[in-house]
Amino acid sequence: DTAGKSITCKAAVLWEFNKPLSIETIEVAPPKAGEVRIKVVANSTCHSDLHVMNGMPWDKRMQCPLILGHEGAGIVESVGAGVTDVQPGDHVIPLWNPQCRKCENCKSNRTNVCSGLDDTHYTGLMTDGTSRFTCNGTVLNHFMGCSTFSEYTVICDMAVCKINPEAPLDKVCVIGCGISTGYGAAINSAKVKEGSSCAVFGLGAVGLSAVMGCKAAGAKTIIAIDINPDKAQLAKKIGATKFLNPKDFGDTPIETVILKESGGNGVDYTFECIGNAATVKSAFYSSHKAWGVCEVVGITALTKEVSIIPLALVAGRKWQGSLFGGYRGKDDVPKLVEQYMNKELNIDDFISQNIKLEEVNEAFDLMREGKFARSVVKY
Ligand code: APR
Ligand code: ZN
Repeated sequence: DTAGKSITCKAAVLWEFNKPLSIETIEVAPPKAGEVRIKVVANSTCHSDLHVMNGMPWDKRMQCPLILGHEGAGIVESVGAGVTDVQPGDHVIPLWNPQCRKCENCKSNRTNVCSGLDDTHYTGLMTDGTSRFTCNGTVLNHFMGCSTFSEYTVICDMAVCKINPEAPLDKVCVIGCGISTGYGAAINSAKVKEGSSCAVFGLGAVGLSAVMGCKAAGAKTIIAIDINPDKAQLAKKIGATKFLNPKDFGDTPIETVILKESGGNGVDYTFECIGNAATVKSAFYSSHKAWGVCEVVGITALTKEVSIIPLALVAGRKWQGSLFGGYRGKDDVPKLVEQYMNKELNIDDFISQNIKLEEVNEAFDLMREGKFARSVVKY
């Protein structure tokens, strides 16, 4: 029985920005009050991890050394005092956007973004301001309140979501971020209407899920855009009606190509799923001049800005964004898992390969090159 004791296990540690991850033996302290220790079973690679590896965290408090990973699934090993939502043995998905049910945001029906983010996600620590990870005596920071590139992790009970124990954890882990973020951006945030036209920029797991969401919402035209032509096939399988590679049009901006494709005024909904200021601008100008909705989904470096002509908004265009696809973790993630179990939600096609923790750097190199969707680490 490991409850109440420190656990020694393997984890991928980022000691410094712009360096590869290093597989280390670490100590994971037992959960304190209101915390849950999880045996992570699977975790997939996401570009948000890569942003941080590349030294572009979206909050200055996200500092090395830390344990990345936020798209995981696992089994509760032990719980701290006062935890009521889960118990040892429960199958869970960690939530980088928690649902505390107590903050102003959680009590309102206007947003899914929980203020609990401020106490864990951005700080790299548990709510009491300390870490549960050490490596040879050095304290390691948490990441996004999850740190699932570790065989064991400790997270706040507000960030643990219990799911169907029958669900394959090495598949549903992707619901922890990529699938929900893209799918929900189309379904919940943009609220894509039947018969409409859409354009999705970037075809990683997030963008492909946005394509899947547009298709599920009944969009008639779905233009999928990526600089990697290898993404065309999967995008079309998932529902894209057209693939465009910006590199095929020389100096012509991609928004000009999309305006032409859509008859001159732009498409009804656009989704930026890359995290690049230039493509945010292209997505904005590709949306319909009068009623277009441009949904910003990708995470762009804090130092980057986008400028637009204010007049471009006056006729009625909307420029908006969404976090975690507008889903509330504890309420909605179990439903998405059920949708997968009922074969209403595709996840399998988004998983390009299964890897060992030791192969994680190679998987991120492939992501740097824009190859593959998700690589799932099975512990
Ligand atoms: N134009 C078009 N496509 C591009 C461009 C560009 N200028 N630059 C990159 N891409 C494509 C890549 O080829 C790749 O297929 O965008 C895709 C991004 O996919 P991933 O790297 O797998 O990223 P993903 O994990 O899907 O995340 C996308 O959403 O949650 C955020 O932080 C995340 O900002 C990231 C974004
Ligand atoms: Zn993510």
